[in-house]
Amino acid sequence: MPSPAIDFVHTGPGTLAGRYLRMFWQPVYRSQDLLRGRAVPIRIMSEDFTLYRGESGTPYLPAFRCAHRGTQLSTGWVEGDRIRCRYHGWQYDESGHCVDQPGENDSSPTKVAIKSYPVRDYLGLIFAYLGEGKPPPFRRFPDFERPGVLINGPAESWPCNYFNRLDNACDSAHVAYTHRAAALRAGARASLASPQIFSEETEYGIRTATRLPGELRYLHFYMPDANHIRATLGRGNVEKASAPVWSDRLFFRVPVDDSNCVSFGAILVHVTGEAARAYAERARSEDGERSLFLNQLGEAILKGQKRIEDLESDATIWDLFQVEDYVVQVGQSPVAERSQEHLGRMDNGVILLRRIWERELRNLAEGRPLKPWATPEGVADETAMTQQIPSSAAL
Ligand code: FES
Ligand SMILES: [Fe+2]
Repeated sequence: MPSPAIDFVHTGPGTLAGRYLRMFWQPVYRSQDLLRGRAVPIRIMSEDFTLYRGESGTPYLPAFRCAHRGTQLSTGWVEGDRIRCRYHGWQYDESGHCVDQPGENDSSPTKVAIKSYPVRDYLGLIFAYLGEGKPPPFRRFPDFERPGVLINGPAESWPCNYFNRLDNACDSAHVAYTHRAAALRAGARASLASPQIFSEETEYGIRTATRLPGELRYLHFYMPDANHIRATLGRGNVEKASAPVWSDRLFFRVPVDDSNCVSFGAILVHVTGEAARAYAERARSEDGERSLFLNQLGEAILKGQKRIEDLESDATIWDLFQVEDYVVQVGQSPVAERSQEHLGRMDNGVILLRRIWERELRNLAEGRPLKPWATPEGVADETAMTQQIPSSAAL
């Protein structure tokens, strides 16, 4: 009898996939967007939290609501490294303990506390541990600590389940079609030749090799929800660069709730010295409302009001890439109906991803040990498979 399907789509508290994702540190906000002394509400995996940065610069992540009568704590005031509720002024310290209840006339320390979660600033992102018990050791990404310019594009909020984006991260077959307009605009000859694709499980997740005429490309997926790609920026992007400049791109696709997700990126551009300063300045000035605008463009295309082929010629290649990905992944519907799919040989990365997720979730459900995923290091330079790539074809 086939075992019942494992649900990796729903990630709210108590769900199996939610429990699994909460076992890992997850990025929850772009660091540069959280100013000292400011608090914001955030939603991750169908749970609400208060995120604030103390005046010392340290970020904190207490519960969403004040323990007194439950108003939204993010509307209050940050005082030093504490936060005070706007309703009746209760104040919480760095660990969520209520340390001041104005008017209560009680000099003994209060026993009231709200939950507070461990957080850490790293690679321009704020990571949090939202699971039970002691957090696991913080996972670093040494490939992104190398010399170069580290930039974080705006967080991309998309109205689809995070697994639409995870599937895509292991799906190199989509590139020739989905990104055809971007490739043509970049001056590439559009090739619709079917690539050969081979995916294998590694100590960190999945490595996928894609063979195209004259080219072998690698994709790396880090369990449970990140992917790493290496790409050139193209000559024009870095002043005076005599050769194409490489960038390493790390993306985390994190559930907001079951129909929305947010993607956080850390991009290391391999330039140093004067060129690095100039590049960093330009990248910063290009930030802003762009991501929202691109989502609106994606929505207009999905409604049939625009076509990708008609987008203005000033759209950058990366803009196009983002809109193209938005259209196909949000176009699968917020929660893709996987039971209706017809998977083929070209989907072998997607099939492997789901098989690994199902195995881990089943083990979690049945109390068996989980695979301890290794810290990816040197992955950017890894361009070989441990197994022999079958010569015949895509698997
Ligand atoms: S609700 Fe926060 S102090 Fe009353
Ligand atoms: Fe894509």
